Amino acid sequence: MSLHILVAADVEPRHLEAIRATAPGLAVEHTADRARLLALAPTADVIVGWNVPPEVVRRAERLRWIHSTAAGVDQLLFPELLQREVLLTSSSGIHAEPLSEHVLGVLLMLSRRLHIAVRQQLARRWDRRTVLGDELGGKTLGILGLGAIGRAIAERARVFGMRVIGTRRSGAPVPHVEQVFPPDGLDEVLRRSDVLVVVLPLTPATRGLIGARELALLPPGAFLINVGRGAIVQEAALVDALRAGRLAGAALDVFEQEPLPPESPLWDLPQVIITPHVSGTTPRYYDRAIPLFCENLRRFLRGDPLLNVVDRERGY
Ligand code: GLV
Repeated sequence: MSLHILVAADVEPRHLEAIRATAPGLAVEHTADRARLLALAPTADVIVGWNVPPEVVRRAERLRWIHSTAAGVDQLLFPELLQREVLLTSSSGIHAEPLSEHVLGVLLMLSRRLHIAVRQQLARRWDRRTVLGDELGGKTLGILGLGAIGRAIAERARVFGMRVIGTRRSGAPVPHVEQVFPPDGLDEVLRRSDVLVVVLPLTPATRGLIGARELALLPPGAFLINVGRGAIVQEAALVDALRAGRLAGAALDVFEQEPLPPESPLWDLPQVIITPHVSGTTPRYYDRAIPLFCENLRRFLRGDPLLNVVDRERGY
């Protein structure tokens, strides 16, 4: 089979070598440049990348398969792709370590008020009252989305003595999680969560899922951590809840609009930790993403079913 594989991601030479070694003789081209991606699209049979723009898909007349190096594929489910027979696979499952470490990091920051301490340090201010921290032990962590990442967060939170509950589409039990609810158990999870972590994919069912009503169900003084997708939480309602003090703090890695616009009120709230969509990214990212693609490439060449095939109806 003569295939052209277009790698549209910032990978290292060792990753391209791994792809070439998996499929010797196939043409493997690499670019992270948008203009070059457009130029190479017409001959591509397979595209590997995070953000493959609609124009690239439109031009890629031979395209048979896109493998997303991201776990969430909401940014790929546009009409140009949905109207075609193109296979779509994701990198779901590779983010558990970095994302769970990130969540535990911001969870400890919020609880120990380290985000406030850093601001005080910058102002050379010594004030013990404003940075007296709390303890995680005995608190309830609610995780919306108990996939690979949610489970890794649960395991780590248990080490701090937290009680973990959460939602999962099937409602089936998950290790380290005391009680798993199906999605319609959301209100119950909210009522009990001292800390709410959102790790859901963005789909028609989750867009805007957490609004003013849902935030009001959280216990007073709760924290919210969003590492899923920004549009799952209604940002204006979140700002209101933070300003009113109903929520004690938030750590946000994802936003309705990215980059977060300079005029966003979130920048000015001292009780908010903002990170620029980096919670899953470490130097080891492609060392996990590319072997998964290579395994799928082997399967593709053999005509076997692929791993992580995206259900277009469900959106992940
Ligand atoms: C990043 O946000 C991803 O979905 O992998």
